[in-house]
Amino acid sequence: MVEDLCFHLVDLVQNSVAAGASAIGLGVTESEHGDRLTLEVSDNGSGMDAETLDRVQDPFFTTKSFKRVGLGIPLLKATAQVCRGEFSIASQVGQGTTVKALLQKSHLDCPPLGDLEATLLSLLVSLEGIDLRFTYRSDRGEFSLSSGDIRRQVGDLHFSHPDIYRFIKEYLHEGLAGVARF
Ligand SMILES: Nc1ncnc2c1ncn2[C@@H]1O[C@H](COP(=O)(O)OP(=O)(O)O)[C@@H](O)[C@H]1O
Ligand SMILES: [Mg+2]
Repeated sequence: MVEDLCFHLVDLVQNSVAAGASAIGLGVTESEHGDRLTLEVSDNGSGMDAETLDRVQDPFFTTKSFKRVGLGIPLLKATAQVCRGEFSIASQVGQGTTVKALLQKSHLDCPPLGDLEATLLSLLVSLEGIDLRFTYRSDRGEFSLSSGDIRRQVGDLHFSHPDIYRFIKEYLHEGLAGVARF
């Protein structure tokens, strides 16, 4: 398995979708000065009770019956810990969940971020019905984008419409190029 941080981002978003979220916030911070990389995914889904929240960090726990093990969260937690970082999940039943991972960027085991632009593009298009809000921060500044912003600009057309798809791709590309270093 190729592990980059975008893989984890997609996994966390899938968890939020599976929890019935109608709004998902995604935050990525890359700081050379601060020597850190952080991922944050928050949702307004079903949340977890205290017992589930405890078990969720165990690599052999999943509530998805079609799979034997859940690996996403334990793997991200282990990666964050190996990379001298921090990992936390906060959740409340009926309210939602926030997962945060912080990694020391210069650590030899810190995975690459991966293709953030392609990852976001596919999340925005495939989760068109969900209010997705994305914020990227670096030492150079901040770029934010939400499904709502796109919706206001494109009217009724589907995000997968070729012209709209291209528009979103360019918007993301330019926004990220202004603040990210890929
Ligand atoms: N955002 C979330 N909201 C509610 N439950 C969650 C959320 N994220 C994870 N969970 C619970 O934690 C379990 C383990 O998640 P994960 O480690 O990603 O493995 P998997 O998704 O393969 O089950 C999920 O099956 C689900 O029950
Ligand atoms: Mg998962």
